[in-house]
Amino acid sequence: MRVLLILLAGVSPAVLAQTQSPKRGLVFIPNSDHPEDNQIWAQAGSDLTWYYNYQWEPSPAFEDVTQEQFEFVPMLWGVTDGTGFLDSIRNRIKSGRAITHVLGFNEPDSPYSGGSNIQPSVAADVWVKNIAPLAEDGVQLGLPACTGGWGGIPWLQQFLGNCSELISTEDEKKNCTYDFVNIHWYGNFEGLASHMGSYAAAFPNTPQWITEYNLDHQDLPATESFYNISAEYLDRMDSVGRYSLYGSFRPQDSNVGPNAVMLNEDGHLTNIGSWYLGVSKTAVTNPQSGGRRLAVQMGIFVFNLMLGILLS
Ligand SMILES: *[C@@H]1O[C@H](CO)[C@@H](O)[C@H](O)[C@H]1NC(C)=O
Ligand SMILES: *[C@@H]1O[C@H](CO)[C@@H](O)[C@H](O)[C@H]1NC(C)=O
Ligand SMILES: *[C@@H]1O[C@H](CO)[C@@H](O)[C@H](O)[C@H]1NC(C)=O
Repeated sequence: MRVLLILLAGVSPAVLAQTQSPKRGLVFIPNSDHPEDNQIWAQAGSDLTWYYNYQWEPSPAFEDVTQEQFEFVPMLWGVTDGTGFLDSIRNRIKSGRAITHVLGFNEPDSPYSGGSNIQPSVAADVWVKNIAPLAEDGVQLGLPACTGGWGGIPWLQQFLGNCSELISTEDEKKNCTYDFVNIHWYGNFEGLASHMGSYAAAFPNTPQWITEYNLDHQDLPATESFYNISAEYLDRMDSVGRYSLYGSFRPQDSNVGPNAVMLNEDGHLTNIGSWYLGVSKTAVTNPQSGGRRLAVQMGIFVFNLMLGILLS
């Protein structure tokens, strides 16, 4: 039996090196052309414990999955859709679905793709009316998730200043409260670590959620290397509450380049996707390939298994 284990370790270090991280979640980008892709993330054996979808309603794809199996974290994406958020979350809590965290606006400091482009004072008003009251229900509040650009932290500081003005009176000065910050980053690992450091300086002793990150538009070796180094770092850092890698789609649907994706062109997990889910023994492929490499790996695996049994 020992011979078998040594042989397997030699062939598939990835299988044995897997760590399960309760911090790890999904930025869910549904695929309506290939609905089967939507079922990959909550599959048995997946390390992913939670997801968000930029909305405050859970995704229909995960209707049959319980909150305990795969925790849904609602987001108030922008201000135009503000009304209804608070009631919806409270109704969900009343109906027994354990909503424990919510996320503030998505990239309010950006008018570009996905950015909700909100003035801090307007965002503060919507926060006070729709998000802040949830603290009374024991829900943990995540600050708006700004872009990785230089303007993110100043936007948040202005937002918090405006928010304090709104809730303070002549006699009593108050600050708006929050439980964690949300961080987005696209770029290399040194940049990610430095950006997290800037947030730690601006918001000391505040848990960090890295809710979008990746090395975008780079070659595959650099992207895989970034993935490994950052996953190890985010798992290790006590300041990181949770994280979610951006890229739950195929290369043809990617706005972060063809290599920063978790699915290949056929909808199978890429290396990064399978490492992220902790299921690398079942699928290992490159983004722009079919299942050939998987077949070769399975062949080697079976060969070693037979050899191991023969020798033990
Ligand atoms: C928001 O805050 C900024 C600076 O922090 C300030 O210049 C502005 O007057 C504030 N706006 C409102 C509506 O409170
Ligand atoms: C509000 O926050 C500011 C800046 O972090 C701090 O200086 C001030 O003491 C706080 N005020 C209250 C009432 O907590
Ligand atoms: C990334 O980690 C996996 C194991 O989890 C390993 O198989 C792979 O070689 C690593 N790749 C790089 C570029 O570090």
